[in-house]
Amino acid sequence: MIRVLFVCLGNICRSPMAHGVFQHLVDEAGLSDVITVDSAGTGDWHAGEPVHSGTQGVLNRHEISFTHRARQVDRRELSEVEYVVAMDSSNYRDLRDLDHRAHLDGRLSLLLDYVSGNGSDVPDPYYEDNFNDVYELVEAGCRGLLEHIREKHEL
Ligand code: 4NP
Repeated sequence: MIRVLFVCLGNICRSPMAHGVFQHLVDEAGLSDVITVDSAGTGDWHAGEPVHSGTQGVLNRHEISFTHRARQVDRRELSEVEYVVAMDSSNYRDLRDLDHRAHLDGRLSLLLDYVSGNGSDVPDPYYEDNFNDVYELVEAGCRGLLEHIREKHEL
């Protein structure tokens, strides 16, 4: 199994959006027996809460059925996941710190690393309420990530 974990701050807006979109792409590609998808937040403020209504709304509009409860990332799981995908550079730094800068090298990336010509960060729609714009970035990142994984693992 190839494990993919998307990580943002609260695990209610961006990482569950990526989780839902990527799972949908994996299912469409017939790869759900090979790739597992999950998401988590670096913070625990929203643990147990459902996905933010803005993210749920944009996923519904794209006919992606998805439910998730927010949870905080666990240090141990970081050692078990092949692709730890951060939404922004602050999440990236927090994950490096959580990992004591030791084991994540080569497995930690930013979602927009997989999209050429974009900035590095997926902006946080929690503050800007720009869920549609964020969706476009997230979808592009997810498509790029799946392409990368398919090439690398010859799927
Ligand atoms: P997310 O968005 O990291 O994309 O889930 C946020 C959710 C909650 C907060 C910040 C960002 N917050 O400050 O509570």
